[in-house]
Amino acid sequence: MRRIGILTAGGDTPALNATIFGAVERANALRIEVVGIIRGFAGVIDPRLPHVRLNPLFSTIPEINPCRGGTLLGASRTYIDPAQTDVLAEIMLRLQKLGIEGLVCIGGDGTINGMQPLSELFPCVLAPKTIDNDLGLNYIDEPNEWTREESENGGLVSLLKPPAHESIDLEEIVNFATPGYATAVAVVVQGVERLRTTAESHRRIAIIEVMGRDSGFIALGSSYGQPDIILVPEVPLDMDHLEQRVAELYDLQKHVVIVVGEGVRDASGRQLGAATKSYDPAGNVIYSGAAEELKRLLALRFGDEFFGSRRKHESADSVLFTRKVGHTQRGGRPIKFDRFFAAQIGGKAVDLIVEGRNNHLATLQWSRADGFFLDSLPANKLRDPWKRIHPRRVHPSLYDAQRFQPSRLGKEYLMTILTNAIGFDDVEELRAETFSPGKLSTRYQSVNIDIQRRIETVK
Ligand code: F6P
Repeated sequence: MRRIGILTAGGDTPALNATIFGAVERANALRIEVVGIIRGFAGVIDPRLPHVRLNPLFSTIPEINPCRGGTLLGASRTYIDPAQTDVLAEIMLRLQKLGIEGLVCIGGDGTINGMQPLSELFPCVLAPKTIDNDLGLNYIDEPNEWTREESENGGLVSLLKPPAHESIDLEEIVNFATPGYATAVAVVVQGVERLRTTAESHRRIAIIEVMGRDSGFIALGSSYGQPDIILVPEVPLDMDHLEQRVAELYDLQKHVVIVVGEGVRDASGRQLGAATKSYDPAGNVIYSGAAEELKRLLALRFGDEFFGSRRKHESADSVLFTRKVGHTQRGGRPIKFDRFFAAQIGGKAVDLIVEGRNNHLATLQWSRADGFFLDSLPANKLRDPWKRIHPRRVHPSLYDAQRFQPSRLGKEYLMTILTNAIGFDDVEELRAETFSPGKLSTRYQSVNIDIQRRIETVK
């Protein structure tokens, strides 16, 4: 193999450049040229196929900085429509014209679904990335637990049956953790800690919304910030139980901190944050305010009287306050765990392409004896009986719905990933760079400017 392509698809995550770096370094060692495609699948759909040579003469271009968040290649949520066979055929011809013999796609569940039709025509592998930590399986036969039911409007909806396994064995998890997750959790933990002191000083109830679409892994990880209550999308809200716990805690400590995963649902399955349904270009629901809706529900239940009778002469509306951690979870410098494993995964993805393992994904596995190690899996193993790949959910055995906290196993899971996730250099970077005087006199140097000078197109 002499030349491969690489692209970053879906939402950006902190360790994308580290994955690209790992892939290019491995390719240098194997004397393979790497061509970076601009803006994910949007780049391959574009007839000009904008691209950048990432290792001329087998040396990595300086713009690839594994410590920098985002992606020097640009990303998009554009995916290939499997029904458009003519577009697929054109893409394949275009890639061949550029002399590309295989494609490494860096992405999450949207990307791997989007990669499926292309992988029928062209060698593709997936290097996983996601802050949501939802790419993978709790155990290998989990995809068979999906079922389909008719929805209210006559269409079909996929539903996850109650899991066949009451508990999981951490060693069985397919793709234990994905680069991007640890950094996102680190940001959330800081956010929770900082909001805590305001809630505590002003005797308020903070409702903090974190990302994670339909999976509560980020919410689960927020437990390092010691929130009083964690709500995950996988467990429908029990409002009576929640109200009772919030009241208990408010009486005890005069403030409460609640973390809510953006995809949280009520008992009838309604997503709190999707009151006004809108979708992104990939068809994902855009969550507009789970925290706001939860605030409304709690304010209705408590009313002003609850706080008045506790000598807090403010309305429920002002005692309860919401904050979204938002896109700060996705941005900025990746911490050590993410940088290191992202680079390893990038290298592994190149090996997979070279070994001819079409439509495989590189995975990060864990065992008690060996710690973290790399492996791979055919993407087909992730598909449900209708060929769909679903985001991994927080398994019930990782979360204690009674206490609104991670279970004992959930804590073990988190400790495995996060105990040593921050490196000395991460701390040093904060110390040396935050108030570096040079920043006051130099403008932000965007990698987009340097990459623009390198972009080439096919004729
Ligand atoms: O899937 C990754 C993710 O960060 C989700 O957690 C979140 O819901 C979504 O992307 C936000 O997407 P966007 O950046 O397009 O608003």
